[in-house]
Amino acid sequence: MATTATPPGELEPIETASIDELRALQLERLRWSLRHAYDNVPHYRRLFDTAAIHPDDLADLSDLAKFPFTSKLDLRDNYPFGMFAVPREQVVRVHASSGTTGRATVVGYTAEDIGTWATVMARSIRAAGGRPGHILHNAYGYGLFTGGMGAHYGAEKLGCTVVPVSGGMTERQVTLIRDFRPDIIMVTPSYMLAIIDEMERQGLDPVQCSLRYGIFGAEPWTNEMRAEMEARAGIDATDIYGLSEVIGPGVAQECVETKDGLHVWEDHFYPEIVDPVTGQVLPDGEVGELVFTSLTKQAMPVVRYRTRDLTRLLPGTARTMRRMEKITGRSDDMIILRGVNLFPTQVEELILGVPALSPHFQLVLSRPGRLDVMTVHVERRPDASPETAEAAGAQLTTLIKNTIGVTAATMVAEPGTVERSLGKMRRIIDERPR
Ligand code: DLL
Repeated sequence: MATTATPPGELEPIETASIDELRALQLERLRWSLRHAYDNVPHYRRLFDTAAIHPDDLADLSDLAKFPFTSKLDLRDNYPFGMFAVPREQVVRVHASSGTTGRATVVGYTAEDIGTWATVMARSIRAAGGRPGHILHNAYGYGLFTGGMGAHYGAEKLGCTVVPVSGGMTERQVTLIRDFRPDIIMVTPSYMLAIIDEMERQGLDPVQCSLRYGIFGAEPWTNEMRAEMEARAGIDATDIYGLSEVIGPGVAQECVETKDGLHVWEDHFYPEIVDPVTGQVLPDGEVGELVFTSLTKQAMPVVRYRTRDLTRLLPGTARTMRRMEKITGRSDDMIILRGVNLFPTQVEELILGVPALSPHFQLVLSRPGRLDVMTVHVERRPDASPETAEAAGAQLTTLIKNTIGVTAATMVAEPGTVERSLGKMRRIIDERPR
């Protein structure tokens, strides 16, 4: 499906179109996408037939709720190329998830899909403050992960000069930022912290560096973390969301002028929020699991893909398209501690409220006796004395008890001792016996 050619750096007309115009486009595209999946992917044909539903039954956008869900398991069961809707020869690229817990999930793109992806990524970088002519330091990992190449193609399409550093070699990241003077950095928020730390270690003042905009995603992060990174690096930080099954980064992006949640690029990806247990569609404004149906993807359409990410949909502000609130966490990452549900982001918020504690932390779950215990491993800030840090640890335990309602132990570690990530940070270490 052709995407309208807009001069690089300008808003696409659909970004500010009327709601009616947007809904009409979505309905037309949704019809095409469901038909495309049904006609070309045996898995979808089987699933629709079993549910006694047909693409022609879609009269209205709300009829989508009658169609069956897709999950990661469906992609694994059809490993590697069984979910493709075009002959393999038309697939110009594949990406895959790491597959640490089973078979990798493989996704594919036609040349036109790569173009769509570059369009939504260029749109995202622009929304974050990027403009043609900017230098963009891309520290998302290149390879099977979608972050690096997704950002790369979008940045080129916008007209930026891309520095394709990928993740890792933190000293070199700092050297390149110092020498090339980029305007924009794209990286996971946890690795951005490592880069800021390294600048300080080298005696550089991060606020004085050339960076003006940071586009952070691939893992959950909080507004408290935004404040930390903006203050320490002198940048405007915005959130970017995406997942490989839907396309990669660039499914939703926050606008720099509002920083009030991420506009879902819903002319390409149709969002729903469902009750994670019953699968019932929830109205906008209610928190639940985010589900996406692709509207334009050729090589691998997805129908009602369950992301496991928890958020809610809100009306558009800086753009017509709806916003999703910052992700609280994935349902897989929800810790249930003696009957209380909690997410690592809730602990991050509290840690950043205690001046002596740094945002480098991990949650360790163990079961020394009959009960589960959560220990927060968090580093003290380099400028905080060990004595202050000890008091800060006790303060964090109290905050967790009063705000989240669970008893947690806190272990305040020396700077540089909590594991660093080069990409997505592992926040939970589960040492409980199976
Ligand atoms: O992480 C794509 C991406 C790359 C997004 C670079 C943003 C920037 P996956 O590896 O398939 O794709 O992982 C997708 O990561 O379901 C969320 O759980 C999480 N995630 C991605 N972006 C955010 C975000 C990429 N901004 C999974 N906030 C998703 C919270 C995020 N979680």
